[in-house]
Amino acid sequence: MTEGKARERKSGTESAAADAFQPILEAPAERPFVVAQLGQSLDGRIATVTGESRYINGPAALDHLHRLRAAVDAVVVGAGTIVADDPQLTVRRIEGRSPARVAIDPTGRLGSGGAWLARDGAPLLLVSAGEACPQGVELVRLPLHEGLMRPADIVAALFARGYRKLLIEGGARTISSFIDAGCVNRLHLLMAPVIIGSGKTGLELAPQGDLSRALRPPTSVHLLAGGEVLFDCALV
Ligand SMILES: NC(=O)c1ccc[n+]([C@@H]2O[C@H](COP(=O)([O-])OP(=O)(O)OC[C@H]3O[C@@H](n4cnc5c(N)ncnc54)[C@H](OP(=O)(O)O)[C@@H]3O)[C@@H](O)[C@H]2O)c1
Repeated sequence: MTEGKARERKSGTESAAADAFQPILEAPAERPFVVAQLGQSLDGRIATVTGESRYINGPAALDHLHRLRAAVDAVVVGAGTIVADDPQLTVRRIEGRSPARVAIDPTGRLGSGGAWLARDGAPLLLVSAGEACPQGVELVRLPLHEGLMRPADIVAALFARGYRKLLIEGGARTISSFIDAGCVNRLHLLMAPVIIGSGKTGLELAPQGDLSRALRPPTSVHLLAGGEVLFDCALV
């Protein structure tokens, strides 16, 4: 194995979709770089009607998610995902270091419990409009604008604290609002060969009355093990 290949394996970027990591690895240092990931069924669902979401995607897509985590400075999730899934947000399936964990919780409803708050040495940040913040977590206070914190403000606040490469891991509302705000460089859409037929949909962007206004990002496609497909979309 060449030295470069050995480095790649160590950093966890070696996979059928290694090309999809190049834009992240080569992102310019002087500005933020945001990648969002969404795992969904063939019919665009991210959970059943009862909210069951583990696991729509198979091992290859989960490995990919852990590679993404290892490639960024911080992983960002909305409060809805913390409540629904209690995710750990760490790198476990591949070799690599766990990034900082950031929860967007405008009203401080999350409290001080949850797996994301594990004391494992990874920095923890809470983006909120309120003042409540668990001990050991850095509070990033931002103003609300019509009930929302602007995604661009969140990205800028994290960049100012040294978190340049961000993974917006979910859920659907959070990713959609970041895309609507033009704050996502790459979208990694992982399609599992599963048809759920009903349930929670993935992306829900601002309505476009006219098909000519639909996003048609340059996209590369990678076939993963188990029939899963990664669509790597260059959004901005
Ligand atoms: N398939 C996948 O890849 C994947 C990944 C992650 C999660 N999920 C699934 O997604 C579902 C959860 O998604 P979701 O859409 O319901 O919730 P979500 O996106 O996880 O969280 C949405 C909430 O986060 C807060 N938030 C996010 N961005 C904000 C902003 N810019 N300003 C202010 N608040 C902001 C708000 O909290 P408040 O509600 O407190 O206002 C908002 O309602 C679960 O079913 C989970 O299993 C799937």
